[in-house]
Amino acid sequence: KCLRLISMPQFAPLKNDTFLRALLRQPTDYTPLWLMRQAGRYLPEYRATRARAGSFLGLAKNPDYATEVTMQPLERFPLDAAILFSDILTVPDAMGLGLFFADGEGPKFARPLRDERAIMALAAPDMGSLDYVFNAVTQIRTELDGKVPLIGFSGSPWTLACYMVEGGGSDDFRTVKTMLYNRPDLMHHILAINAAAVATYLNAQIDAGAQAVMIFDTWGGALADGAYQAFSLDYMRQVMRQLKREKDGVPIPAIVFTKGGGLWLEQIADIGADAVGLDWTVNLGEARARVGHKVALQGNLDPVVLFSNPEQIRAEVGRLLSVYGAPSEGHGHVFNLGHGISQFTPPESVAAMVEAVHDISRKMR
Ligand code: CP3
Repeated sequence: KCLRLISMPQFAPLKNDTFLRALLRQPTDYTPLWLMRQAGRYLPEYRATRARAGSFLGLAKNPDYATEVTMQPLERFPLDAAILFSDILTVPDAMGLGLFFADGEGPKFARPLRDERAIMALAAPDMGSLDYVFNAVTQIRTELDGKVPLIGFSGSPWTLACYMVEGGGSDDFRTVKTMLYNRPDLMHHILAINAAAVATYLNAQIDAGAQAVMIFDTWGGALADGAYQAFSLDYMRQVMRQLKREKDGVPIPAIVFTKGGGLWLEQIADIGADAVGLDWTVNLGEARARVGHKVALQGNLDPVVLFSNPEQIRAEVGRLLSVYGAPSEGHGHVFNLGHGISQFTPPESVAAMVEAVHDISRKMR
């Protein structure tokens, strides 16, 4: 028993739990924030580390580098959460699809799922092949030393399937959506395997030290009404049912984000997550009324606002905070962008935004 205690990672107590409190709809002194893709190419120090690592995958697969770049935005800005530096496509890579990045072309798979034989041979990955991710989680949590909570993440079963079938990004998702209509049985087969893999993957991140988890359903909004519920939302609900919701007696909040999912907000709020992420098309005040006390909300500044001047950034932040409205019991808001930060964003804009969110939201309390 003693030995087991000694071998367990011991993490420092949390100094700033504002983000977790907002997700759990508890009162906070100000509105916490973090940014999707907060560690990335808009930071010169990220570009320097990436050059040393040789490639994006060289960064993501090395826990020392992954820890270094995760910490970079926190050293510059007083953000309220850290997010594991990795990618959603690690899971299909571990399934044997062969992830690679062609220069300037985004992610690609060497062996996409294009025929029934390949689909029937698909299996959830051996989590051992993703140890580099779990080791990074533990190393980052240790390095954070309780400064802010660490977010773990995964792609949604549907969003992973988009890349697995298309073999990369797409403008119209013609291949994967054609499969959905022609062979719904094959699509459901892929999605059931993905859902099991995502749940196991997120639970392993929680065991390794993740203090909240987020599911990125980046391409759920590419689906028709009806198809979204059957091929994306239902599988995220399955993931939610299998997630550990606490670790050592501490709750582990879960966030779901469907880009383009605003019209389905009530249904998304009903799958058992603690919080729902919103893109910039949604009115935050209306969203708050629609979800009531069911979930907290995360979002949703248009990332392009960060290309305007600091006064304009502050005005847009203030506008968004007042659209959300004054804090009240049983509601929670985590400020974020409506999607990932652009690689061309001036870092000074991020500083202006962070300062505005903290300052204005404190004065609204
Ligand atoms: O938010 C964070 O700081 C954590 C890191 C993170 C990355 N990818 C790092 C990354 C997260 C949470 C992701 C998720 C991810 N990856 C999603 C879902 C979220 C979203 O943005 O909608 C998707 C669809 C992917 C797949 C993916 N990975 C794409 C489309 C690309 C190319 C992006 C581009 O702009 O070229 C990647 C590569 C990637 N993942 C980069 C980063 C920082 C850029 C890598 C580089 O060239 O340095």
